[in-house]
Amino acid sequence: MAWTEVIELSRCRDGAGTFVELAGLELAVFRLREPERVVVIDNACPHASGNLSGGEVTESRVRCPSHEWEFDLDRGVCTQSPQVTVQRYPVEIRGGMVWVDLPD
Ligand code: FES
Repeated sequence: MAWTEVIELSRCRDGAGTFVELAGLELAVFRLREPERVVVIDNACPHASGNLSGGEVTESRVRCPSHEWEFDLDRGVCTQSPQVTVQRYPVEIRGGMVWVDLPD
């Protein structure tokens, strides 16, 4: 794993997902409220590769725009089928930048 600068925090959509392509990975960066935090997951939905960064966000959950599977962003699990997971990455905010611990 390697800590990598991914995006300026100010460029992340508030209360929504932002798509980032970096180092061969497609990521969805979610800037969430109450408490304010950033969650980074793989952008491709585990069902059929839907665009999770474009999904509707409600509190800590995102609904895939393709077939409406819903994921708990804090746990990385599908709320309808908890055995279905999405990859989450460790995140730190440093100097206004989102840093993510990505696989080598
Ligand atoms: S691709 Fe996400 S629910 Fe089908």
